[in-house]
Amino acid sequence: MQIFGVDIGGSGIKGAPVDLDKGDLAQERHKVLTPHPATPDGVADGVRQVVDHFGWTGPVGVTFPGVVTDGAMIRTAANVDDSWIDTDARALLGERLGGLPVTVVNDADAAGVAEMHFGAGRGRRGTVIVLTFGTGIGSAVFTDGVLVPNTELGHLELDGHDAEKRASSKAREDHEMTWEHWAAHRVRRYLAHVEMLFSPDLFIIGGGVSRKSHKFLPHIEGIKAEIVPAQLQNNAGIVGAAMRAAGH
Ligand code: BGC
Repeated sequence: MQIFGVDIGGSGIKGAPVDLDKGDLAQERHKVLTPHPATPDGVADGVRQVVDHFGWTGPVGVTFPGVVTDGAMIRTAANVDDSWIDTDARALLGERLGGLPVTVVNDADAAGVAEMHFGAGRGRRGTVIVLTFGTGIGSAVFTDGVLVPNTELGHLELDGHDAEKRASSKAREDHEMTWEHWAAHRVRRYLAHVEMLFSPDLFIIGGGVSRKSHKFLPHIEGIKAEIVPAQLQNNAGIVGAAMRAAGH
């Protein structure tokens, strides 16, 4: 079975039909740039362009980089335009896509669900925390494979700061930190804090940085939990969005 997945990110809106049996893209993905400011209207247009590129007419799952309740309602918007807050994204996108059924889900929750089914978390029980490092830090918390949605661990307060402002991948780029400095100081400190609160068995590190795990994972020391890179890498959000739309 195939369902269309779209991942709305800070820099790009990417999507493709997803083969739900394989947990992989059924066709090469298409990407358009995220408009700035990332308003509901501008982003909805981007989603339409991506879906139209494939002439898709079935159900669509869409990730959003903020809290999403009931598969529809946007509640926070840390890295996109504030006018998203309290928008019914399912209604907005459904209308823009000519009436296609739409399910909306937090981006990290989507990536986490995909990793737990098809990637680094397959078959893992206990407490597993998937963290995505990108423009912000996203989190997906699982207990025996069951997701606790919208955990927002990227906004924990760390040394008086919003944690994602210190430890996201964007923070590394903005402050021109080396991979080693970012890993050994910022990410390690952040993981130690999350570990103190949740004592997870496994951390899965996702987001764009998962492709470069050899550059930073060796520098993260002193964490008791196992730490592994995500396996679906940049496609986890797209696959997870489609899975959620299929009712996973
Ligand atoms: C948002 C989260 C999102 C994460 C990654 C954070 O700023 O609050 O909802 O999952 O960024 O995009």
